[in-house]
Formats: sequence, structure tokens, C-alpha cells
Amino acid sequence: METASKNIVLNVNGEFIADPFAPSISAFDRSYLYGDSLYEVVRTYGGRFLYLEEHLVRLAKSADLCKMKLSKPLSFYAQECEKSLNAFNTLNAPKLTEAYCRLVISRGTGKIGFGTENILSGPTFAVIVQPLNPPTPEQWEAGYRYGVVDRWRNEKRALDPAAKTGNYLNSLLAYLEATNDGYQDALLCDSAGFLTEGTTFNLFYVKRDIIVTPPFSSGILDGITRRTVIQIARRMGLEVREVPFPKERLYDAAEIFMTSTIKEVAPVVEIDGRKIANGKPGKITRRLKNAFTEYSLARSEKEKKS
Ligand code: PDD
Repeated sequence: METASKNIVLNVNGEFIADPFAPSISAFDRSYLYGDSLYEVVRTYGGRFLYLEEHLVRLAKSADLCKMKLSKPLSFYAQECEKSLNAFNTLNAPKLTEAYCRLVISRGTGKIGFGTENILSGPTFAVIVQPLNPPTPEQWEAGYRYGVVDRWRNEKRALDPAAKTGNYLNSLLAYLEATNDGYQDALLCDSAGFLTEGTTFNLFYVKRDIIVTPPFSSGILDGITRRTVIQIARRMGLEVREVPFPKERLYDAAEIFMTSTIKEVAPVVEIDGRKIANGKPGKITRRLKNAFTEYSLARSEKEKKS
């Protein structure tokens, strides 16, 4: 079995590629020509995938929204992810390195032209596994500084944010704009001026112990972490509201936090250059981060035993 250098494992259409940065997908692939692809990012806990099934179900939903027919069942993609993770774990043994895994599926490779009659292959896929790079404890304590950019999040009637597609140019530009202005990442509003989410993460604020997050109707990704955190918070007896709100609401929030597979639950301490509350991670944010990690580790242990 060939595995990649630099701790990266790349599996393209079922084959391991020795040099991950050498060309391995055709320039005529629709992912390259049109961003006509889907993707998911999953991570490991204790060297095993967690929430993989939820991510694959979301992938199927994205495929539906994009009218993309996956030629293989979801279990096939799960196996390819597992196969790639095994290669990664072998590469890193005996040290346990948590993994970041990105599964990308494109509509296929073929002649230039939107029509699917131009496609000469079935859907192509790639699995990338590399070391996970979560926030360090110092980065977490320092919190994140985000800017609300002028650029809108894609409208639901344009490219529905509920679909996790390989077409991230709008979010990427928002990121470049925000970082160019000295922020660490961008938050985007919809055309009505309501906040939606960040470039690659969901958004929450806390005021008077009530947790608020934009609803699906604002045009957001149904984040697996968002969903889990909402459940955990409600089980802890906290009130969570999914309602639209403008950016000004963030400025006088007691706490702000973001959620994503990579960062789990992380504090946001500054918005548009304004300090949020005392500029430190909030109490509820910390409780939810601990509860989320605890829940994930416990679920991982349980799945290991079964
Ligand atoms: N991003 N919103 C957007 C636009 C995202 O791209 C993501 C995920 C999320 C959070 O979803 P989840 O909790 O399921 O990871 C929200 C991944 C991590 C990425 O693109 O790297």
C-alpha cells in the first residue's frame, strides 16, 4: 500500500496516491471546471471517526439539492474513508494523531459543457486524511476575532447554503476580505441584513442566559456540531432560540461562540473590532465546549465497545 508523504493520505477513486500534490484528477473534472462537487469534513476522536454517518446523510442531502446522483451507496464512501483513515493511522503509529478527513465527490469528468451528457465517467471522489489541527488551549482561551463582511451569504434561491458543495468561492472571498481587514475570519449576513453563519462554521450568541442562533430560513448549513450543541444545551436546561437577528445584536451580547467539526465550540471575543462583554470566553461557552467534548468522547468509547 502506498501512502503519501508529509502525513497526508490521499485516496482518489479508491487508489492511494503517493504524492498528494502531484496531479491526480483530470483538468476536465467538473469539480475543477465548475466547482460541481460536494464535500464533507469529518474528524476522529481517539483515532476513530465520530459523526461519520451524520456527515454522509448530509452529503446525500447535498447531492439531492444539487441533483447529483451518487453512483455508490453511502456505505461505500464510509468504507473508503475508513480505508484511508487506516492508512493514516498506520503512517502515524505508534503515536495517536487525531485525523481530519475530507471526502470530495464530483459529478464526474468529461467534455466542457454544463449538460450531463458531456460526462464520460461516473462521479469521481477523493478522500484526504491529514493531522487534525484544532485550536490549541491558548488559541481557545484567546478566543476569535471576526468581522461581518459586506458580502452576503449565498441566498437560498441562489446556491442554497444547506448544500455543502465544493463551490466555496463566495465564502472564500469573504474570508479574504475579513482577514485583509485584520480579522481572523468572516461572518456573513443575508440580503435582509440578518446574520447567517461564518465561512465554515455556525454562529451563536448568548444574552440573559438564552442562546440564540440563526434559523435554517436565514440560509445556513445544518452543522452537525450546531445540531449536537443545541441538543446538549437543551438537555442542560438552557433555552435555545433559532431566530433571525441583525449584526448589532452581537455587539451587546454577553457571549458569542462558533461551532464546527474542527473547532467544536469556540469563543468569539471580538466582532468588527468591538470587544464582546469582557473580551474573555463566556461561562456558557465554556460549559458547552466541555459538555460537547465529553459527549463526543463518551459516544466514541461506546461505539468502540459495540
Ligand atoms: N465546515 N457552516 C459552513 C458554511 C461550513 O462549511 C461548516 C463546516 C459548518 C459547520 O458544520 P459542522 O459542524 O457539520 O462541521 C457551518 C467544515 C468544517 C469545513 O468546511 O472545513
